[in-house]
Amino acid sequence: MKLLEGKVALITGGSRGIGKALALRFAAEGASIAFSDLKYDEIMEATENEIKALGVQAKGFASNAASLADSEKLAEDVVALFGRIDILVNNAGITRDNLLMRMSEQDWDLVMSVNLKSAFNLTKAVQRTMIKQRSGSIINMSSVVGVNGNAGQSNYSASKAGMIGFTKSMAQELGSRNVRCNAIAPGFIETEMTHKLPEEVRNQWISSIPLRRSGKPEDVADVAVFLASDLSAYVTGQVISVCGGMSM
Ligand code: NAI
Repeated sequence: MKLLEGKVALITGGSRGIGKALALRFAAEGASIAFSDLKYDEIMEATENEIKALGVQAKGFASNAASLADSEKLAEDVVALFGRIDILVNNAGITRDNLLMRMSEQDWDLVMSVNLKSAFNLTKAVQRTMIKQRSGSIINMSSVVGVNGNAGQSNYSASKAGMIGFTKSMAQELGSRNVRCNAIAPGFIETEMTHKLPEEVRNQWISSIPLRRSGKPEDVADVAVFLASDLSAYVTGQVISVCGGMSM
C-alpha cells in the first residue's frame, strides 16, 4: 500500500516550486490533491494535469491564502469535492527583501499576511474537519532564515519564525484530537523564489552549505511525505530543517 492512499491533501501555493513538488510526491503516494494559488492560469492547469496523470483526483483552486474569507471558502470547497482533509500544507510564501532602513511598511505587512497570517487562516478553516475526523497532519513551510535570521530579510525571517511558534502552539492545542502540526525549515532550494537572487549571492550561499549544493524541491517533498504520512504518527510540534546542513 502507498503511504498516503485514501488521504486528501490541501497545499497552498501549489502551482509551482516546492508546493508543486509536494503535490506530485503526495500524489505518487496515492493522495488526492487540492492545491491553491493566486489565480487559475495555464500554470495551475498544467500542474493539475500533471498530478492527474499520476492517477489521482486533483483540483487547483484560485484562492488568496492571506484572506480568511478565501481560506474558509477553499476549505469548504475541498470538503464538498473530496469529502475530507487529512493533510494541510501551509506553503504559500513570498519575499520582499530589503534592509530595515529601506523596508516599507507595505512590504512588512504584505510578507506577514501572505507568509504568517495565511497559516492562521487555513489552519482555522480546516481544524474543525480534522478534529471531527480525529486525525490530521498540518505542515507549515518555515525556513532556516526563520531559525537563524538573515540580514535584508527581517520581514521574511520574522514571518517564518512566527510560523514556528504557531506550529508548536497548534501541536499543543490539537494533539489530544490526534491532529499533528510540524514545520519544515528549507535551506537554499532551487525555485523561482531563489532564481531571483544575483549569481554571486547564490554562489555564496552554496559554498557555505556542508553538502555543497543547493536543494531541490524534491528534497523538501521527501521530508513532507514523512510528516504527512502515518510514518510520523508520534511526531508533532517539531521543526525539521532540509538544508544540506546549513543550519545545525
Ligand atoms: P515560489 O515563489 O516558487 O512558489 C510560491 C507559490 O506561492 C507561487 O506559486 C505563488 O503564486 C504562490 N503564492 C504567493 N502568494 C500567495 C497567496 N497569497 N495565496 C496563494 N498562493 C500564493 O516559492 P517556493 O520557493 O516554492 O517557496 C514555497 C515556500 O517555501 C514558501 O513559503 C517559501 O517561503 C518557503 N521556502 C522556500 C525556500 C527556497 O529556497 N526556495 C527556502 C525556505 C523556505
